[in-house]
Amino acid sequence: MRTAPPRRYLMCPPTHFEVSYSINPWMDPAKPVDPQLALTQWEDLKRTYLSLGHTVELLTPQPGMPDMVFAANGATVIDGRVLSARFAFPQRAGEALAQRKWFQAQGYADIRIPEHVNEGEGDFAVTRNLLLAGRGFRASPASHAEAQEFFGRPVIGLDLVDPRFYHLDTALCVLDDSTDTDVMYYPGAFSPGSREALARLFPDAVIAEEADALAFGLNAVSDGRHVLLPQAAAGLCAPLRARGYEPVPLDLTELLKGGGSVKCCTLEIRV
Ligand code: ARG
Repeated sequence: MRTAPPRRYLMCPPTHFEVSYSINPWMDPAKPVDPQLALTQWEDLKRTYLSLGHTVELLTPQPGMPDMVFAANGATVIDGRVLSARFAFPQRAGEALAQRKWFQAQGYADIRIPEHVNEGEGDFAVTRNLLLAGRGFRASPASHAEAQEFFGRPVIGLDLVDPRFYHLDTALCVLDDSTDTDVMYYPGAFSPGSREALARLFPDAVIAEEADALAFGLNAVSDGRHVLLPQAAAGLCAPLRARGYEPVPLDLTELLKGGGSVKCCTLEIRV
């Protein structure tokens, strides 16, 4: 039986969510967004975390920051150390400070303002000992060295090559962070060399089909037992169950119009 130790998550209500610019292939400012539906879907995600025994902290949404709902991008927090974000696009630059202020107010002392572009857990994923780090569209390769130095964890750099999967967390999900083995990913999002590296590191990984990856099925959050994922990624449920995980399907289609889903809305605070 898999266990799910209680976790702390940081989220931000989609109060000001809209698609007014396009910085990834999913964002089409011509397509209308239903703010009420986005909020209802987000509330459902939050309620699910609480019902599973986890804690959810909240950021105060800021007007003019429509992507702030994607809280995972604002920082990476491991062992109580906070590596703040530095966004690739000016449209999101202000979010880094907004989130940093939250950590400061909570009394976090070890907060690093980064020299290099990194978009928090968008491109960093944590296993027991490793920091998996994406690059190619957002995080700069130099941010990997910066993260290794700050967290003292070996970084595995992975090259993303398909613009639809512009962040690591759209292409790979850590299923059990008490191991260095249990992940799921979509190989097509990675360069040939990174694919080979992933196959060496994770020979028993759940390999996602393109359709499930396109439904943002890898943009999932696992607490070690429950795997919260977009319901349209139905093909992942059987392989997850076969490995003893419990898939928890959710509808976050309105937020997908911004290019994000479950994981993007969720920053994990690891103390
Ligand atoms: N519109 C946002 C962007 O393109 C979506 C971010 C999604 N977050 C994530 N962790 N993948 O930056």
